[in-house]
Amino acid sequence: MTGPICVLGIETSCDETAAAVLRRVPDGTVAILAETVRSQIDEHAPYGGVVPEIAARAHADIADTIVAKTLEESGLELADLDAIAATSGPGLIGGVMVGMMTGKAMALAADKPFIPINHLEGHALSPRLADPCPFPYLLLLVSGGHCQFISVSGLGDYERLGSTIDDAAGEAFDKLAKTLGIGFPGGPAVERLASTGDAKRFALPRPLLNRPGLDMSFAGLKTAAARVVEAETPDVQGQADLCASFQAAIADCLAEKTRRALIKFQDGRSGDTRLVVAGGVAANQAIRSALNGVAEAAGASLIAPPLRHCTDNAAMIALAGAERLAAGSVDEAGLTFAARPRWPLDEARAQTDPTYGGGKRGAKA
Ligand code: KG4
Ligand code: ZN
Repeated sequence: MTGPICVLGIETSCDETAAAVLRRVPDGTVAILAETVRSQIDEHAPYGGVVPEIAARAHADIADTIVAKTLEESGLELADLDAIAATSGPGLIGGVMVGMMTGKAMALAADKPFIPINHLEGHALSPRLADPCPFPYLLLLVSGGHCQFISVSGLGDYERLGSTIDDAAGEAFDKLAKTLGIGFPGGPAVERLASTGDAKRFALPRPLLNRPGLDMSFAGLKTAAARVVEAETPDVQGQADLCASFQAAIADCLAEKTRRALIKFQDGRSGDTRLVVAGGVAANQAIRSALNGVAEAAGASLIAPPLRHCTDNAAMIALAGAERLAAGSVDEAGLTFAARPRWPLDEARAQTDPTYGGGKRGAKA
């Protein structure tokens, strides 16, 4: 498609109900006409984590209202849109289905193309909402649901270089916060306490750091921290020291694996290297500065999208739809797409590499 493209995006794969309308012009410049993100934090906070059934019901309660409000704020009518894009996996399947079916119904009613979007592709393209950020770049996606390195060579051309084999880093922060009873989401609470703590007080493990490769693991670290809580019942200072030690361990793991990922990414390439970091954990200042150091040492520039586009949002889903439409890579059969709880971004490799898609390694893929 040539000329400006207007797309409505819908995101409901975890605990944010989000909608956005954007206009993308052929030189890649993007104008976000309206966007809404409604977080379900209050609904999940009593449980210390996201409860899938509560998430699905909350999305179902509000998705239509959020979409209608966002479209109205954009100043466009349904008829003005070129397409409707919705996250169709991977994620909590009840929520994914709510957003996808909302998008499909609107597309069918307005006779517009429906574009099913892989949530991970949305994150992968998110830096291009605010910045030209030309391909290729290395993405570290580090959130509550994902922790992986993706080499982004072009639209639809992604290679996962490594990933957590168990918990995502954000999930580990959330679990430590739950053990300490300091709130949900855990990352910001742990970071706050860590600021008054001694990171050297507890010697916590750095899982997989002494093994080659780019895979990561955080489950053992989480267990080690839980043992400290069990054995010492730490007072406020002890809790701060534990949070600081825990945050330092995660920062060390992410920094060292990022150093290796940059070497692998740069191998055989010339020109500028861009390292993009996205996902809620990217908000953590200690982790940010560790990654900055690694990027600088490798001669790479660190790009972090603004926080509202680092965490789950619908603008990145609308952008993925607009880029696909502009490139002519939209499947006619969008309306028949079945929601996918698992949907590896690097599908070709997932099909040929038995260790990639299933079992332990598939958990966060
Ligand atoms: O990207 P996001 O909003 O949602 C998904 O998980 O998809 O990320 C949320 C995660 C939570 O696990 C939260 O604890 C973590 O990001 N997080 C942080 C910080 N802010 C959010 N982790 C560490 N430090 C933070 N400041
Ligand atoms: Zn996400």
